[in-house]
Amino acid sequence: MSQDIKDKINQLTDELNYHTHIYYQESRSEISDFDFDQKLKELEELEKQNPEYKREDSPTHRVGGTITKNFKTVYHKYPMLSLGNTYSKEDLVEFDKRVEKGLGTTEYEYLCELKFDGVAISLTYENGLLKQAVTRGDGEKGDDVTSNAKTIKTIPLRIDHEVPDIFEVRGEVFMPKTVFQQLNEEREQAGEAQLANPRNTASGTLKMQDSSVVASRKLDCYLYALLGENLKTQTHEESIQQLEKWGFNVSPTYKKCHSIDEVLAYINHWETKRLELPLETDGIVIKVNQNAHQEELGYTAKSPRWAISYKYKAEAAETKLESIVYQVGRTGAITPVAELEPVLLAGTTVKRASLHNANEIERLDIRIGDFVYVEKGGEIIPKITGINLDKRDSELTPTSYITHCPECGSELTRKDGEANHYCPNVNGCPPQLMGRVEHFISRNALDIANLGPKTIETLFKKNLIRGIADLYDLKFDDLNELLVEEEDPATGKIKKRSIKEKSAQNIIDALEASKSIPFENVLFGLGIRYVGRTVAEKLAEHFKNIDGLMNAGQEEIIAVHEIGERIAESVVEFFKNDENRQLVHRLKNAGLKLEAEQMNETTVENLVFKGKTVVVSGVFENFGREEIKKLIKSLGGKVGSSISGNTDLLVAGANMGPAKLEKAQKLGTEIISENDFKSMIGQS
Ligand code: IVH
Repeated sequence: MSQDIKDKINQLTDELNYHTHIYYQESRSEISDFDFDQKLKELEELEKQNPEYKREDSPTHRVGGTITKNFKTVYHKYPMLSLGNTYSKEDLVEFDKRVEKGLGTTEYEYLCELKFDGVAISLTYENGLLKQAVTRGDGEKGDDVTSNAKTIKTIPLRIDHEVPDIFEVRGEVFMPKTVFQQLNEEREQAGEAQLANPRNTASGTLKMQDSSVVASRKLDCYLYALLGENLKTQTHEESIQQLEKWGFNVSPTYKKCHSIDEVLAYINHWETKRLELPLETDGIVIKVNQNAHQEELGYTAKSPRWAISYKYKAEAAETKLESIVYQVGRTGAITPVAELEPVLLAGTTVKRASLHNANEIERLDIRIGDFVYVEKGGEIIPKITGINLDKRDSELTPTSYITHCPECGSELTRKDGEANHYCPNVNGCPPQLMGRVEHFISRNALDIANLGPKTIETLFKKNLIRGIADLYDLKFDDLNELLVEEEDPATGKIKKRSIKEKSAQNIIDALEASKSIPFENVLFGLGIRYVGRTVAEKLAEHFKNIDGLMNAGQEEIIAVHEIGERIAESVVEFFKNDENRQLVHRLKNAGLKLEAEQMNETTVENLVFKGKTVVVSGVFENFGREEIKKLIKSLGGKVGSSISGNTDLLVAGANMGPAKLEKAQKLGTEIISENDFKSMIGQS
């Protein structure tokens, strides 16, 4: 019996590893997401019952679940050095001269790579299995983050090739730009502070205690070095090609250069091209290619003499800080914003930059009237990187952070360990009240089109609404001919516009239609702090209805997969408040969906997209694109954003990009037309 279980665990481990491998290395798949998830769950269950048979290369490590309170300190077998760096091309020519002199020949090559902006990591493999993952630390010793690194899908847990008994691979863990943007969008929706940049986020994520949270953060890793005894490679290029063959993720952007002029051409090529890459890069790394040459050139105390990095200059400008304004978000979070004398930077005029929180103001010691440096790197939002102290007027006084809400005058609070100040007047502070209504009607929540922020502001000013529930008491006559103040985008002047009969009716109709929007959207729309779209879906699925959630204790909420203490605490606090309970009561009476749809067996059978990943592209005659996506999701499917080996179906509308179509054809993805889609959903 126990042998049977062990065999089953082995078989599932091998099978799932095979599918992961072809998915990530060859961009194709032979199994649906649904079947993969089922098998993974089966394996997880078997391992839970029989932990002694869980293999080190089990794909369940990818899901996480390990909690590490303190990371073990580990000494590196080979120190992790840093690189000399420069911003000047002249320095590179000097570097080349030193190399030529050091080697006494002109017969050498360089291998150029991009400098990935992430966190360095060292992976040790023994007998083909990933044994240990360690951060750089101080170069001599770092933190053992193995269980977190195992959640990174492109780091192989096992190498299916003939490999040395022991070797190390080094590279950079990073957060792809799209993942970072999505994370910040989710945080914004959940009323959380924005994260500064992908690099810091990757670094913070890799050191999180709960590896299942790390898994959900979708980190990635590029490898760029192979170390060990008796390796058969003679050059750096051979090493990275070896890594590629063994299934490691190597960025395809490297290039062999035969002269410093070729290196400079590589630098020029990537100066702007790098902005199109999926991750942030801040320069390039130039490495002498032959191992024998590297040995000959040797090392200084801190860095190799055979390599150097060239950093791209971020576009920067200097301007005057005119004032600091404090914005109040819908959760009461205060964000200080620098108002700047307008300055041209990377093609756009910059007038404002976020100062994030009080810590940042303190760190910069920024004072009104200061001349500040603003930079625009790979990120879209400009940032203030420093102060020109030479130009500081001695009269300028240090900035003291506000103590009271600029909107309602309440005294601000700040929890221990939190960076943000909050206005506690949740049920009286106007931007919080309005912000919550705006959030409630937004696309991912109740999706009530036609009700813009300006209309909401007017409804507030006229005392027609004070909160979400009042929306459902609005009558046609409240809206018809209502005068809304709006800024003319062309002239910047404030104009009054009256809501016409047709628009008023549209708003009433949209409010009526919102009563059939699913429970998870309503839950998300309530605007509970830390409850973003994904969390709302998980809570709705688990608790089935609002009463279940409202009456749940913290422990019960934490028991839901991927829901942590912070979220649970916030949910419990929200429903403790009488006004919030009253809100739920009124929404229920208005007829909104406050319970999940019950599916009977026949409905489940009829889910035509069950287990399928579908991509929607182009324009459609009878549906909006978002509408098609909603339909797919409601019929059991997942909606993918781009075509990959994992896409089961492409719904192709008119004018879709030829590249997408070509990729789908190449991968053999099933392609259907709008008419096919209509008949699939029974609307032909
Ligand atoms: S090679 C002995 N290659 O830059 C030098 N490093 O300043 C070993 N980095 O700690 C590093 N991209 O985190 C190398 N293509 C690349 C890199 C790279 C980013 C980082 C790495 C290292 C730091 C050195």
